[in-house]
Amino acid sequence: MPIEIIDGIYYVGIHDWNLRNFHGYSTYRGSTYNSYLIVDDKIALIDQVKGPFTEEFIKNIEEIVPLDKIDYLICNHLEGDHSQSLVKISELAKNAQIITSERGKPGFLKMYKKDWDIKPVKEGDELNLGKRKLKFLPVPMIHWPDSMMTYCLPDKILFSNDAFGQHICRSKIFDDENDLNKILDEAKKYYANIVMHLSGIILRALKKITEDLKLEIKMICPSHGVIWRSHTLKIIEKYLYWSNRNTEEKVLIIYDTMWHSTEKMAMAIAEGIITEGVETRIYNLTLTDNSDIIKEVLDSRALLIGTPTINNGIFPTVGGFLTYLKGLKPPAKIASAFGSYGWSPKGGVEAALEELKEAKIPEIIEPIKCQFTPDPEELEACKEWGKNIAIKVKSLS
Ligand code: FEO
Repeated sequence: MPIEIIDGIYYVGIHDWNLRNFHGYSTYRGSTYNSYLIVDDKIALIDQVKGPFTEEFIKNIEEIVPLDKIDYLICNHLEGDHSQSLVKISELAKNAQIITSERGKPGFLKMYKKDWDIKPVKEGDELNLGKRKLKFLPVPMIHWPDSMMTYCLPDKILFSNDAFGQHICRSKIFDDENDLNKILDEAKKYYANIVMHLSGIILRALKKITEDLKLEIKMICPSHGVIWRSHTLKIIEKYLYWSNRNTEEKVLIIYDTMWHSTEKMAMAIAEGIITEGVETRIYNLTLTDNSDIIKEVLDSRALLIGTPTINNGIFPTVGGFLTYLKGLKPPAKIASAFGSYGWSPKGGVEAALEELKEAKIPEIIEPIKCQFTPDPEELEACKEWGKNIAIKVKSLS
């Protein structure tokens, strides 16, 4: 159902209430594929939706205007959740000019193999719609090389595509109509899992938007989740904070266990950390989804990875998590590994340390291991190890 967000601009996107997994990212609250229709002397549709929702999308648009009245199909991003419906929409909106970024054009043609006449735009290009004007702002790598934002004047609305999004599905589509803490929590998870590794690029883009171009932003309309209209500054500040790779006095203990020995070590390590008054959180990888843990990684100063040794190597869930982690370039300052082993003293812990080094964490602390089940002395050593890491964490900022 379309919703008029301000006079003449409509939300015509899709609510995907039942989405629970977005290529490996858990979406307990569903998600949305946002699209916006600007009705002026000329009519522009900003962004598309995921293919299976095309018929519903068409219905939303046609409650406002017939598709053949659309003049411009502005496609800020190629990824399927924002482009798949274009195949059908472009057939029905037969008078519309497709607009993408310069890097988007070859991508759209390759992805969809259509004979589309795409007009590429670059930074600063403008499009007059009548009373309104659009300015284009390519933002490569937020989140793909083709990604672009579109800025609408005089309303000062930034159609930001993936940036500032959240995987959350709400019937009320504005930030101030929802629980802000839940929205910010989803924005944090989204940032951590989707763009954390691009923080330098995001910082430069934020600088360009706010300092170089001095764009005033009254409303941010992302391509997922709610629209920011009352907390616009807040989400920009959050992005600045996360992109600066700030960490808190917090240690994450992430582990899996076969016969509870590595788990006992995890609990003893946590005890040591707690005695130093440092916050710690413990996650068993069999029980918690990777994408939820990554949200916690975003502001953790230390990461401690626990793995048993199995077949002379790392435990599968731990290996999988570390593969995901290292691609996201965590901002942690220190890291280490711990775990139990049976007959082979070298294996899982060493493999975990290698992965942490590849994740480019600046300081890797000497690990701690025990054979079979930890005895009281070994648990005391784990506690002491955790305590020393907490002291180190307090000394860093
Ligand atoms: Fe929501 Fe990069 O797609």
